Amino acid sequence: MKCQRDKFNLQRKVAYLNCAYMSPLLKKVEKAGIKGMKAKRKPFHIKPEHFFKDGDSARIHFSKIIDSDEPDRSVLIPSVSYGIANAVKNLPKKKGSIILVNGQFPSNVYPWLSEKNYKANIIEAPKAKNRGEAWNNKILDAIDQETAAVAIGNVHWADGTLFSLDEIRQKTRKHDAALVIDGTQSVGALPFSVRDTDPDALVCAGYKWLMGPYSIGMAYYGSMFDQGTPIEENWINRLGAEDFGGLVNYQSEYQRGSLRYEVGEHSNFILLPMFNAALKQILRWSPDEIQSYCTELISPVIPELMSLGYSIENEAYRVSHLFGIRIPKNVSNEDIQKQLKIHKVNVSMRGDAIRISPNVYNDQKDTGKLVRALKSAISK
Ligand SMILES: Cc1ncc(COP(=O)(O)O)c(C=O)c1O
Repeated sequence: MKCQRDKFNLQRKVAYLNCAYMSPLLKKVEKAGIKGMKAKRKPFHIKPEHFFKDGDSARIHFSKIIDSDEPDRSVLIPSVSYGIANAVKNLPKKKGSIILVNGQFPSNVYPWLSEKNYKANIIEAPKAKNRGEAWNNKILDAIDQETAAVAIGNVHWADGTLFSLDEIRQKTRKHDAALVIDGTQSVGALPFSVRDTDPDALVCAGYKWLMGPYSIGMAYYGSMFDQGTPIEENWINRLGAEDFGGLVNYQSEYQRGSLRYEVGEHSNFILLPMFNAALKQILRWSPDEIQSYCTELISPVIPELMSLGYSIENEAYRVSHLFGIRIPKNVSNEDIQKQLKIHKVNVSMRGDAIRISPNVYNDQKDTGKLVRALKSAISK
């Protein structure tokens, strides 16, 4: 794949290596949003079927991205905390430990802490040289009969450490524990297969690697949650909601699949067409190609930064679209921040790592600026 910068309105003077913060808007996504906004000038053109059509498309697109052949298991959510809360409420094991990792994003921590019968078992990152591998082993060792769920990302949001979901899945199966994945920092840019990993839930915010607008994302729920009770009760999630004339013939049955877990007013006429335009573009590129593009882009950068004294995770436990750089002891955080500002490089500091997260709109000019900034911080 060649650089896709022309599909975005991104300023050249800033090296934006921060998709893990939020993606820039694709031109097509922007256009879909404006069209959606204008549609409400003529509300008489918005028919009952329009409340359902775009949601069904989003389900199909997202299912293809996660390699699922059951689109009705995927639903629209406004935030990760919302999608996780549905899993917390409906986990079959009503007490036990929830395995989380240290420094995990709060939207996959607070919903678990709110349920008093669960005890969080937060697995610290080891100080070992082979940190990624040792951390994965610690997580695997922690899973036992007491475990109600492992709730984790495919990659750590702060430094990109890769978690071996397939091995974790095997161990959770042995102990009847659920696997709940926060895919926000990976799905879209890193291949993920529901068929292979078989999670019980996979929850993704849409505004980062799925390139959608803010406040819309998707969650997949496996058969574990088929008979559950959603955190909110909305009219559109009930059977027969398509018949607007019959809405007050109150229904006890839910819509098909996992649709009971979908957020109220999910037929958002602005955000949803935008999200669909973004998902279609991701599918056209494919997560596999996006990951390969990022790998090619950062391959020369990693050894150069390591030779300057920066530490970066081993390749086997790191992805190319999101990785952390830890700074040498003799360099201060302030020097790093100052040089990044001077060289107009936009990245995030998360925990003790500088988080670099490129995507298909970045090129060697951007990575060149990053290397120059980090080199200058060393020589101060
Ligand atoms: C791993 C991860 N999960 C979730 C979110 C966002 O959560 P929410 O949609 O609940 O705001 C972020 C945002 O940075 C994130 O990095």
